[in-house]
Amino acid sequence: MMKDDIKKVLLSEEELHTRVSELGAQLSRDYEGKNLLMVSVLKGSVVFMADLMRAISQPAEIDFMVVSSYGSGVKSSGVVKIVKDLDINLQGKDILIVEDILDSGMTLDYIKGMLQDRNPASIRICTLLDKPARRKADLQADYVGFTVPDEFVVGYGLDYDERYRNLPYIGVLKPEVYSV
Ligand code: IMP
Ligand code: MG
Repeated sequence: MMKDDIKKVLLSEEELHTRVSELGAQLSRDYEGKNLLMVSVLKGSVVFMADLMRAISQPAEIDFMVVSSYGSGVKSSGVVKIVKDLDINLQGKDILIVEDILDSGMTLDYIKGMLQDRNPASIRICTLLDKPARRKADLQADYVGFTVPDEFVVGYGLDYDERYRNLPYIGVLKPEVYSV
């Protein structure tokens, strides 16, 4: 079973639910009267996105994009290839990028710049998890669910090698899982 690979539960279902509700309430206030468009970068943020959008009481549009890093050699540059672009025109929209985790920040820094060039009314970042210890890009989230230590976490959308995304909580993997 998946739970046998988990060393410890970092954030329980209940803690996640409570914090997502708080973020939703705050976003509902901040985006009153705005043209909110929630943008999720697949796949890690899909669970957070699904919960967060239902915690927001203002009208919100949603859209998704798929990106992939160009080869490992240039990964640290943060340059990404757009595999699936957004469908919605961003002119006049108040964009909220919804992310699972802000790590080096290189990928999101690139995406934010790219979306900025399309003349939205505003652009902000909401990340469920923030790992500031690993930041390389000069980028901060406007909304943070939890600040987490520099440990590899899985669940609630986050994967290790495409596994564990469907765990309902966020946990730290046992080290032996990496070495098989
Ligand atoms: P970065 O901020 O450009 O370094 O990349 C962030 C992405 O790396 C996230 O969207 C995740 O897909 C992945 N990632 C970073 N840290 C973790 C982790 O602890 N667990 C699972 N995925 C992670
Ligand atoms: Mg990922």
